[in-house]
Amino acid sequence: MHEDIEKVLIDEDVIQRRLAVLAEKVIADFDGKPMVAVALLKGAVLFVADLIRHIPLPMEFELLNVSSYHGGTKSSGEVLFLDQRQPDLHGKHVLLLDDILDTGLTMEAVTAKLKEQGAEEVKTCVLLAKDIPRDTVKEADYTGFVIGDEFVVGYGLDYQDRYRNLPYVGILKSSVIQS
Ligand code: XMP
Repeated sequence: MHEDIEKVLIDEDVIQRRLAVLAEKVIADFDGKPMVAVALLKGAVLFVADLIRHIPLPMEFELLNVSSYHGGTKSSGEVLFLDQRQPDLHGKHVLLLDDILDTGLTMEAVTAKLKEQGAEEVKTCVLLAKDIPRDTVKEADYTGFVIGDEFVVGYGLDYQDRYRNLPYVGILKSSVIQS
């Protein structure tokens, strides 16, 4: 285990087994539809790379650059769209993937944007969802794991752009987090 990690919350094997189950649900819903997987940079990169290998459907793949945390451990409450390029999504069924659902603001803002860009349907998929009160409209369609209301890193998730390469999801030692 990395020396900055207090505890491993979800280990590699458990993540991989859960992705296979999530993929089955996605396949059942998207089979026969023109599908685009849209993953949010940078946190969803490891998750999406592993998940879509379990989905043998024809699909397009896009990466979208958005930011809501701006480097800290609390959501800024503002979603910034950092891309100039806008993919044509007319008539497409989008699977929107992110690493974690916290307030739900990011998924809500990006879903609205993708619909503006012509998406026929947007279904949301997250590796993690924090167990906090949220409007039901903000819940994801597919959730890997529900976790407590704590800041996590690893498997794509970062603190100040570090720890994304850890193969597990873990909690940082408080001594590492700058107050
Ligand atoms: P909202 O509040 O919009 O936040 O649902 C989702 C985005 O916030 C980031 N996020 C985290 N990043 N550890 C992280 O590394 C966390 O515990 C965490 N909680 C939220 C993440 O970028 C996600 O896209």
